[in-house]
Amino acid sequence: MLDKRVSAPGLLEMKRAGIKIVVLTGYDYPTARLLDDSGIDVILVGDSLGNVVLGYENTLPVTMDEMLHHVKAVSRGVKRAMVVADMPYLSYQSSRKQAIENAGRFLKEGGADAVKLEGGAAVAETVADLVAIGIPVMGHIGMTPQSVHLFGGYVRQGKSAEAIEILMTDARILQDAGAFSVVLELMSVDAARRVTEAVEIPTIGIGAGPYCDGQVLVVNDMLGMDERARLKHVKQYAKLHKTMSDAFKAYASDVREGRFPAKSA
Ligand code: KIV
Repeated sequence: MLDKRVSAPGLLEMKRAGIKIVVLTGYDYPTARLLDDSGIDVILVGDSLGNVVLGYENTLPVTMDEMLHHVKAVSRGVKRAMVVADMPYLSYQSSRKQAIENAGRFLKEGGADAVKLEGGAAVAETVADLVAIGIPVMGHIGMTPQSVHLFGGYVRQGKSAEAIEILMTDARILQDAGAFSVVLELMSVDAARRVTEAVEIPTIGIGAGPYCDGQVLVVNDMLGMDERARLKHVKQYAKLHKTMSDAFKAYASDVREGRFPAKSA
């Protein structure tokens, strides 16, 4: 684990040194402080905010204002980790000007260190435009949730030799455009391994097997905050839905039965 503030060049150094990069999503100040204190390298304020915090069905309705609100909270809680702000649907696809203005807001107002956007060759020019004005960009290929309707669901990618070639080309194009790393989401283990070998920038996997340079999980999923969420690629490190629900029930019962507050308090 690097002691200094994590940066885009620092992540490249980690790949070169064979040090795995640890990434989790985060959406609020107290969780950001805990993630940072626990040595998590990168905190991604993902647009998964929509599903896991705001109660939307998918990431498409998430707005810039919603993202910015959470990016600011996370940035305030972090000293060492790199904060990456996810660009929500339709905040970068319409024009170069729109992408620059919105990405710039994440750094200028939100305190983020970098932004992430979804897509391969199709967003390469946007990536290059952002990098040219000093904004580090993380790419994201494979199952990109903002294209869920195009894929017809959350479908694993990279199943054929041809599909793997396209993923490798996309990753190389993102690297050439100046991206400092790339998320590989929900793709075959073989595809993720080959993409990782094809580029010098670090790959960060989610549902993409063990051969990526780092791993990311949605923090609410790995903490088991929603008992309905049962994703195959998620390892649950806690069952917070039970811990929290037990605490809420104990409090309700204490108040109803007159056990809290104590008479002497
Ligand atoms: O929005 C998000 O949390 C993400 C990760 C799943 C990579 O994009």
